[in-house]
Amino acid sequence: MEPKLLLSQLAADTLTGLSATPKYLLSKYFYDDRGSRIFQDIMNMPEYYLTDCELEIFSSQKETIIQAIRPPNKMFNLVELGSGDGLKTKILLQHLMDKSIHFQYTTIDISAKANRELVKKIQTELPGLNVAAKTGDFFHAMNYLNGADILPKTTLFLGSNIGNFSDQETELFLNQISAFSKKGDKVLIGFDLKKSPHVIMRAYNDPHGLTRRFNLNYLERLNRELHADFDLKHFEQHTAYNPISGEVKSFLVSTIDQTVNVGALEKSFHFYRWESIFMERSRKYDFQTIKALAANHRFKVIRNFTDHRNYFVDSLWTKI
Ligand code: SAH
Ligand code: AVI
Repeated sequence: MEPKLLLSQLAADTLTGLSATPKYLLSKYFYDDRGSRIFQDIMNMPEYYLTDCELEIFSSQKETIIQAIRPPNKMFNLVELGSGDGLKTKILLQHLMDKSIHFQYTTIDISAKANRELVKKIQTELPGLNVAAKTGDFFHAMNYLNGADILPKTTLFLGSNIGNFSDQETELFLNQISAFSKKGDKVLIGFDLKKSPHVIMRAYNDPHGLTRRFNLNYLERLNRELHADFDLKHFEQHTAYNPISGEVKSFLVSTIDQTVNVGALEKSFHFYRWESIFMERSRKYDFQTIKALAANHRFKVIRNFTDHRNYFVDSLWTKI
């Protein structure tokens, strides 16, 4: 019998994804230190409207939002899943502090770098805020945090993170967050809305080549961490938007017939010319779907906060 390899989660997921037909890779592994940095550059591009929209929503409606997410006259837990650099969250944190509202903030992100930098920024910009950072997959974190607190809770899931899920993952996530929430607890979820496909394509098919770098960095990560030998010049990035499903899909396409070795898996993978790897989906929503998602997971929509162009919504739900 062959000795069994002890695989890291990244290695195991890469093995499953590259052995599948069609090939895919899981989008949560985009965010190594370099990937988190490239994503910040994406957020700074003028074409990536999502960040500006949520910044506008939080800046212009912060008083209404904090009054809606806090329980009256009680200390509460503010938990954020996949916080990234927390750029937009800091507006709410600052305003909660300005209003002397008592809360503690917990951030959970798979990127150690994102957490490290967010905690550092909070300590300098918002001294006195009670912050805890946990590095890991939020799907696991919701299990171990489940029921651990007696305080009322509001969970933030911002920036259209939910758009990166498949239907199955959305189900799993909303079931978990529903179990994680007690009656009366709240969740604030950022959904990117359907809009002109031209606007959407500009954000994901950018002229600066950042989306391409973001995708190729994934292969570089596999080269570094799993001793793979992807030759980046033989992969081309492609983005497509389907206005019916609302999904932007991102692919890396092999431009030649080639074999890639992955040392950590002691395996090689063959790519036919023009064969692709499905890298990521970024789903766009409509209000009917959002309302149904809430109702199907024992939540009620309390209020939808939108930007002036109706490009994006932060939807506030309460557990019933
Ligand atoms: N919500 C932030 C960041 C968006 S980028 C914003 O709106 O700006 C997505 C973030 O989610 C990244 O920081 C990434 O590291 C994190 N992430 C992605 N999948 C994750 C997972 N399964 N568990 C925990 N964090 C995850
Ligand atoms: C983190 N997430 C919501 C981004 C999005 O818009 O789907 C990731 C991204 N991928 C390419 N550009 C941005």
